[in-house]
Amino acid sequence: MTVPDLLKCKRDGRKITVVTAYDALFARIVEQAGIDVILVGDSLGVVVQGKVNTLSVTMDEMLYHTKLVAGAVQRALVIGDMPFLSYQVSQEEAVRNAGRLLQVGAHAVKLEGGAAVTDRVTAMTNVGIPVIGHLGMTPQSVQQYGGYRVQGKGKDRALQLLEDARALEGAGASAIVLEAIPAGLAKTVSEALTIPTIGIGAGPHCDGQVLVLYDLLGLFDEFVPKFVKPYGNLKAEALQALRRYKEDVEKGVFPSDSESYH
Ligand code: KIV
Ligand code: NA
Repeated sequence: MTVPDLLKCKRDGRKITVVTAYDALFARIVEQAGIDVILVGDSLGVVVQGKVNTLSVTMDEMLYHTKLVAGAVQRALVIGDMPFLSYQVSQEEAVRNAGRLLQVGAHAVKLEGGAAVTDRVTAMTNVGIPVIGHLGMTPQSVQQYGGYRVQGKGKDRALQLLEDARALEGAGASAIVLEAIPAGLAKTVSEALTIPTIGIGAGPHCDGQVLVLYDLLGLFDEFVPKFVKPYGNLKAEALQALRRYKEDVEKGVFPSDSESYH
């Protein structure tokens, strides 16, 4: 899977599947399942680091996790997420940080925002760094929203989002993530653009879908948004396995003869 393949998928009407991963073990499982794209998301701040939002995730942390994932996969496209403050402060810092994600193995980077970041997108694409945009409910703006709320509601906001999407495409973005916006608006945006849209909480009309791996697997249940569908129940399975292990050790049943050396 390559960056140009994303565009080809849209032209061919083939849906793009994207899942997050943060380490080599899960990256290999995701790839083995045939998922097209692995996003090393800054959502790791919440699901791996246990923070309440993504704002404290650092560039060094993103480089570490991106390196683990990129080093483990062979076919999937790897997107490295740009954390808060890694691209907002200056054009120079933005390009350097994006380039560092490519140096550890990412094939593209993702950043949040519309018209406000189009100069960053152009500067990156000008030096050969493919960029994925991210519009709608952009988690790095959580303090401005006052919480995680659906965005792009109402005619004015919808038009604004459509303009932002067009601006990102014009600046050279290779795809755009649409998060937590009305399905109708996501459909309009998807039809208006040549580049693919990847939805999360953006309805069925996007050109692809993305979910956070631990949400998809039913491993993270502290905060489950309406748009998450848990396809597994791995937390329950993990709990059951751990409780059985504890019980066996306490009863003296584990290890048995077959787990012992003689
Ligand atoms: O950080 C992340 O996992 C993301 C996706 C939810 C789009 O940005
Ligand atoms: Na993110």
